[in-house]
Amino acid sequence: MDSFELNKIMGAILGTCLFVLSLSIVSNGIFAAHPPKKAGYEIAVKDDKAGATQAAAEPQIPLANLLNEANPEKGASVARQCVACHEFAKGGANKVGPGLYGVVNNDVGTHAGFNYSSGMKNKKGKWTFEDLDKFLENPSKTVPGTSMTFLGIRRATDRAAVIVYLNKQSDSPAELPKPVAVSAPDGQKKDGEKKDAPAAKKDDSPPAEKKDAPAKQ
Ligand code: HEC
Repeated sequence: MDSFELNKIMGAILGTCLFVLSLSIVSNGIFAAHPPKKAGYEIAVKDDKAGATQAAAEPQIPLANLLNEANPEKGASVARQCVACHEFAKGGANKVGPGLYGVVNNDVGTHAGFNYSSGMKNKKGKWTFEDLDKFLENPSKTVPGTSMTFLGIRRATDRAAVIVYLNKQSDSPAELPKPVAVSAPDGQKKDGEKKDAPAAKKDDSPPAEKKDAPAKQ
């Protein structure tokens, strides 16, 4: 094999490489991979009954209205998350957390015989509906340093239900705040109500739509 022939072979190999390289550049240009806007799969989970709807409608509904609409029986079932640490019955023992009988409108951190964290002792005041709602949404954010290691209840309707249930566990349940008239935020007022509200209430509308509705991007 003389050097001329070797040159030809090398040239052919080099040429092929260049060709393949250019092919890949061109095809990358044509079939560019666009990264998805949102990473991961979107899984449309149909929540129990009005769950997803409520979550979407949450921000507009004042606590007073949620409390008035809340069902204490549902609250009792939400409260199953608490019973590992709390007793609700009158004279209930302190467990990991203090007994909660009569906690609504009671002074914060004062249940007899319970050793509260200093975070809770510093909170002071009474357990108003509002305070309970904030605390149960995110205990450690609302009461920094609390020893209640509970992530919180995300859904406002569930919190309202459990608060109404808590309120019943009392010798003298507090009166619920009066519901207030809700007006939808500015522009959406009429159209938004007509378009979104009925669709959101229907259970057979595709869940994906419900999810996208509030944050139209
Ligand atoms: C993992 C255990 C745990 C769970 C679950 C838990 N808590 Fe607690 N909770 C505590 C502890 C501990 C405290 C005392 C906090 C402190 O001293 O900082 C507390 C305090 C409280 C207080 C304040 C009581 C007072 O006397 O001031 C309320 C109200 C309360 N919890 C409600 C609930 C409700 C309602 C649930 C269920 C949705 C729940 N907790 C779930 C452990 C728990």
